[in-house]
Amino acid sequence: MTPAGYRVLPAIYDRWQLTYGKDYSSLIFPRLLQTFRRYAIAASTLVDIACGTGSLALLLRPYGWHVMCVDASAGMVREARKKCTIHRPQITVSHQDMRQLRLRPRYNVATCMFDSVNHLTTLRDLRAAFGGISRALKHGGWFIFDVNNDLCFRTLWKGTQTVEHRAFTLHLESDYNIRERRAHSRVKLSWQGSHRRRVQEEVVTERCFSRAELKRTLDAAGFYVHSAEDFNFADVPGMAGLKTLWVAQKTNGR
Ligand SMILES: C[S@@+](CC[C@H](N)C(=O)[O-])C[C@H]1O[C@@H](n2cnc3c(N)ncnc32)[C@H](O)[C@@H]1O
Repeated sequence: MTPAGYRVLPAIYDRWQLTYGKDYSSLIFPRLLQTFRRYAIAASTLVDIACGTGSLALLLRPYGWHVMCVDASAGMVREARKKCTIHRPQITVSHQDMRQLRLRPRYNVATCMFDSVNHLTTLRDLRAAFGGISRALKHGGWFIFDVNNDLCFRTLWKGTQTVEHRAFTLHLESDYNIRERRAHSRVKLSWQGSHRRRVQEEVVTERCFSRAELKRTLDAAGFYVHSAEDFNFADVPGMAGLKTLWVAQKTNGR
């Protein structure tokens, strides 16, 4: 059940993000802190689902959070462990697929950031993931995640983009099938070796879930939705509202 993609990207993931100036965790973090304040969520236990290289856990740690990081990519888990092992036991990293979570029901908050939910490509997978996340939360626990919305896929997931770094060149070729609500990004990574160039390739697939699909799946998993707000993830003029931040609370209908 290993998800496609993220065999090639982990080795350059952090360096790639910094070519945009800041990594996504740093961009989203003020919004997450704002959400904690808005709903009076105190620092406690948090599971970061699809944690990538563990950057969000490292930002949370000074605020008193105990974080369990979970990701399905062996490469991402390796990178997260490299960065986070020194912070044990406040931060731990586990290799798990969000569709088959094996977590004790002890968390007050679950996060799933940087459109990781869009990496689930069927409603069945979405239901499996939200069900597992709900079971991992205590009653009253919070689930906070962002998704790429339809406008984002239509606006950004097209054409080609090349990122030059002194160690590598990353070439992305993206498309969005509006009818199927599926997007693909073909990743080609060339390493600038001193003797020969090494080229690795993979495809990252994302699915655009509608608001209604996400709301229904959250309801079915026992969540009450407090808010689902579109936001601008980069301080770039004209890029408003490409992502949606969902804040839900486990109530089991009570
Ligand atoms: C765009 S990255 C985001 C990583 C991290 N949350 C961040 O903000 O940098 C998407 C992540 O989702 C993970 N992922 C994709 N499908 C998954 C699944 N089924 N279960 C767990 N992780 C998954 C990938 O391995 C990757 O680390």
